Amino acid sequence: MSNTYPSRVTITEVGLRDGLQMESQFVPTEQKLKLLHALIDAGVRRFEATSFVSPRAVPQLADAADLLRQVRRRSDVTLAALAPNAKGIERALEAKADEVVVFISASETHNRKNLNRSRARSLEDMRQAADLVRGTGVHLHAAIAVAYGCPFEGGVALQEVERLASSFAELGFHGITLGDTTGMATPRLVRERVDMLQRKLPQLPVTLHFHNTRGIGLVNVVEGLKCGVTSFESSLGGIGGCPFAPGATGNICTEDTVHLLHELGVETGIDLGALCGVATEPENLLGYALPGQVMHAGPRSRRYAADEALCAGGSA
Ligand code: COA
Ligand code: ZN
Repeated sequence: MSNTYPSRVTITEVGLRDGLQMESQFVPTEQKLKLLHALIDAGVRRFEATSFVSPRAVPQLADAADLLRQVRRRSDVTLAALAPNAKGIERALEAKADEVVVFISASETHNRKNLNRSRARSLEDMRQAADLVRGTGVHLHAAIAVAYGCPFEGGVALQEVERLASSFAELGFHGITLGDTTGMATPRLVRERVDMLQRKLPQLPVTLHFHNTRGIGLVNVVEGLKCGVTSFESSLGGIGGCPFAPGATGNICTEDTVHLLHELGVETGIDLGALCGVATEPENLLGYALPGQVMHAGPRSRRYAADEALCAGGSA
């Protein structure tokens, strides 16, 4: 642990998955593709693009296979997809996802709400997932939902995160995301959890996924950076949430995160101006103002002409 920042981090854009799964309306595949391609043009290189879950559970992402089939592939762009069980993994592999992300909750109640099964059964699913993916060359990633606290059960013990993460390490998973599904993370909890994973399971690189539910998402990012984490998830305009967790609101916003990182001297490879241009698209598409701040205020380098503002003293 140090108090300096890494020189470069990877941003995974999750708006198309975590964001759109919350929307009441189905966003047509061609609109999703338009966003995806515009984000690639702005320099985003990693996406959680969709999920191969039950279309009854999440109808907004029922077009997962079509989306992956139609997207313009590039060798330097990774398209990850969420999958909850063997059927989802098989669909994701068939659609040629570059990475499969399986997920389990740190609390029993959230797991039952989200996946309709016990965590013991989900761990069996994870074993099956590892068997299916092993040898295919596809990157196998795990996500722990409600990793910092559960909206039903409250606090989540550090030992619980360690227990689940150890199972993933044993099964040969390539990386792990700590999901702050309902914005219950705090810098203290981030440090404690990241520190434990780095010490005990160094073979499992950590990605951090925050929601800005309580206004401390970017503070948690800074804490993650100080712990040496180089992989973060965020969503365009700050859309997002989990339909199976009460109170879940938007992810940390990609433009706001990129703006902060660049101001800290941390490279992302993303063109912030282009990104802010793309962020206005989902606002038009969804028909409401998104919580992103930099897309509205502009970066801190933005300047106004003096005559654009009123003068308190009458004439200047
Ligand atoms: N993709 C497509 N269809 C699937 C599927 C998948 N990954 N998994 C199950 N199904 C289908 C089954 O074939 C079955 O269809 P049928 O009724 O036509 O025969 C139906 O869904 C029910 O299958 P079952 O295994 O009994 O699942 P379930 O109803 O217990 O639901 C999950 C379990 C995991 C499939 C469901 O809870 C789910 O998709 N959850 C995802 C939640 C999510 O995405 N949360 C946000 C991320 S944090
Ligand atoms: Zn989330």
